[in-house]
Amino acid sequence: MFKQDTIERFKGIETPFYYYNMDVLRQTLDACRDASSQYGFHVHYAMKANFNTKVIDAVQSYGFGADCVSGNEVKAAIEHGFDKSKVVFAGVGKSDKEINLALDADIFCFNVESIQELEIINGLAKAKNKVAGIAIRINPNVDAHTHHFITTGLDENKFGINTWQLNDVVEMLRKCTNLKFLGIHFHIGSQITDMEVYKNLCTRINEMQDWFENHGFAIKILNTGGGLGVDYHNPDGNTIPDFESYFKVFKKFLNVKPGQEVHFELGRALVAQSASLISRVLYVKIGQKKNFLILDAGMTELIRPMLYQAYHVIENLSQESGIKNQDKSEIEHPKSEMKYDVVGPICESTDCFRKDVDLSESFRGDLIAVRTAGAYGEVMASHYNLRDMVQSVYSS
Ligand code: LLP
Repeated sequence: MFKQDTIERFKGIETPFYYYNMDVLRQTLDACRDASSQYGFHVHYAMKANFNTKVIDAVQSYGFGADCVSGNEVKAAIEHGFDKSKVVFAGVGKSDKEINLALDADIFCFNVESIQELEIINGLAKAKNKVAGIAIRINPNVDAHTHHFITTGLDENKFGINTWQLNDVVEMLRKCTNLKFLGIHFHIGSQITDMEVYKNLCTRINEMQDWFENHGFAIKILNTGGGLGVDYHNPDGNTIPDFESYFKVFKKFLNVKPGQEVHFELGRALVAQSASLISRVLYVKIGQKKNFLILDAGMTELIRPMLYQAYHVIENLSQESGIKNQDKSEIEHPKSEMKYDVVGPICESTDCFRKDVDLSESFRGDLIAVRTAGAYGEVMASHYNLRDMVQSVYSS
């Protein structure tokens, strides 16, 4: 729900842009900090979800750590003041250059995804006379019950080390004197709303930590990954994700031993609700079978619907608020409620936010909001069709 004066403000701004509601962001960060700290859990922000400067500055100010997946994200985390003892570097394909950058920055931990990677990090650390902290990312073969495009923890996925390889892992670890084994890491997928899934993950983590300890490797860090989902259908209702239930599952089912730390890598849940993509209607095409609203934003600004069949609420702010735009079309419209395919301007048939969307009768120049776009929105924007990069606007 946008306030009237916010919509008035939008009228003077060139579209498309991401609008960040900084109050929602802060309320979400407050809720996550409160829910995690009661159990002494450590949260690292998965920077890949949104590396907008104001967003990461806000996250950093809460004392969260940073979960990075590229050398540039490691660099950005350090530049934005994240404590290097809370910076973790994950990713299935870390280049030598990126590993060296992270070693030079003395980050806390590399989450390692293959046996070969262990050997490479060990060699690069040795050349610098350093010891790299590492955690083994294990593929637990737990089904996340989420969209298969964003599932990561099954045997068929490229991520992590499969359990049948763990004997080779410990053999390699014994040889690698420039690695310090810190613990085990998991991440089974994203947009997970079924807490039963996390209960199953806890069972696997408990088994795995027993396995490592039986092989002589003490575990300091249990990193459970991220993935907590948000409500994409009710952006003005369930604005704050259910952090309480989420952390409670781990408190209840994870076997945490004295001296161990439990780490989480949340991305989406921290930032998704804080932003909307705001665009304008360029053209209204009324057809016999289909009506199209052609927006000035498309897959170059928000690719989630096109890439993952993701659902986002779409609203006509001009018509719903009664703040009409001046640029009324002359086209006759048959009724005041209409169904439209809401599409972008990109030369691709897949450039469609959603088909048959029920909206108020819409006109050229109307402001359209695509809600819950703060995670994996702006960060996945592109220049395709040589378009301008999308801009950002903030509430105070
Ligand atoms: N940790 C690891 C190792 C990850 O790969 C990810 C996300 C996270 C943590 C954070 O997950 P989150 O809490 O945000 O679910 N672009 C897709 C989502 C891709 C997620 C990639 N990995 C989307 O828009 O739905």
